[in-house]
Amino acid sequence: MDRCCLLIDTDPGVDDALAILMAHAHAEVVGLGVTAGNVGLAHTLANALKLVEVAAADTPVFAGCPMPLVRAAADAAFVHGADGFGDTGYDPAQRVPAAEHAVSAILRLARERDGELTLVALGPLTHLALALRLDPDLPKRIDRLVVMGGAVNGRGNTERVPAEFNIGFDPEAAHVVFEGWPQFDLVDWEATLRHGLDFAKVERWLMADDPRARFYAAISRRTRAWTRARGRPALMVADALAMAVAIDPAIVVTAEHHHVAVELDGALTRGATVVDWEDRMGRRPNARIVQTVDNGRFEALVAGALGAAC
Ligand code: BDR
Ligand code: CA
Repeated sequence: MDRCCLLIDTDPGVDDALAILMAHAHAEVVGLGVTAGNVGLAHTLANALKLVEVAAADTPVFAGCPMPLVRAAADAAFVHGADGFGDTGYDPAQRVPAAEHAVSAILRLARERDGELTLVALGPLTHLALALRLDPDLPKRIDRLVVMGGAVNGRGNTERVPAEFNIGFDPEAAHVVFEGWPQFDLVDWEATLRHGLDFAKVERWLMADDPRARFYAAISRRTRAWTRARGRPALMVADALAMAVAIDPAIVVTAEHHHVAVELDGALTRGATVVDWEDRMGRRPNARIVQTVDNGRFEALVAGALGAAC
C-alpha cells in the first residue's frame, strides 16, 4: 500500500474522529477543512483541532462554512452529542485554526500539490461545491475524490427516509459536486451497514495503552451505547470506511460504476441519491459505488490508528 497524500474535508463527529486518526496513522495529511454538519462549526472546529493534538500532528486546520449553501438543516447532535464528541468535557486543544478559509485552502493546496492529492469528503459537501464553482478545473488537479455520502438504494439514516445525513444536510452542494466532478468514489450509508465493526473487537482495541485509543474510547462511549441500544449488530463508522477506501484503494473488493444524482425538491425525498442502476438515462457514470471491501484490511487500518494490534 503506497502512502497517499490526503486533504480531508470534515465535520467531526465521532466517526470523523476515527477516520482522521486513521489518516494520520497511515498517510500524509496536508490539511483539514472543517464545516458545520454533525454539530455547529464552533464545535466541529474545536474537535478537529483536538484530534490533530491527539494524533500528535501539526496538520493545519481550516475553518469553513457554518451552514449549508441554501437551506438551514438539522444537525446530528442526537447521535454524536451536543459537542459532537460525546460530551466528555475534554480539555480544549492548545492549537489554533489557520487564518485561511477552508475553501480557499482546498483551491491553494490543489494547485501546490497538483495531481498528488486524494480529497476525502467526510461531511456535507458545502466546501467542495464552493471550490468547484470558483474553479471548475479543480478535479483536474486532484488525483482522487472519495465521498462518504448517500444511500444508494434509498435506505438512508435521516428523517427524510431515503436521504443520508451528509447529502441531506446540504443537497444543493452535493448536486453541484455530483454534476461537476467527473469521477469519484462513493462510500454510502448502506455500504457502512454492511461493514460494521465487531463490538468485541472494538472494545479490545480501545483498551490499547495509547492516547488515541483512550481519547476515542471516551468520545465514542455514547455512540457505542446508542448503537447497541438500537439493536444494531455492529458499530457503524461511515467515515472510517470511506477513509479506508481513500488510504488503501485496493481494499475495494466489488464496486459498480453508475450515474448518481441528488434529489433537491421532493417533500419526502429531498437529499436522496438517485442511482441509474441500469444506465437508462444515457448519462456518463460519475460514481464508483463501493459495494464491498476487505473487512480484515479495514479492521487492521482501524486498529493501527488506535495503537492496537488487530
Ligand atoms: C455521515 O453522517 C454523519 O453523521 C457521519 O459523521 C457521517 O459522515 C453518515 O451518514
Ligand atoms: Ca462526518
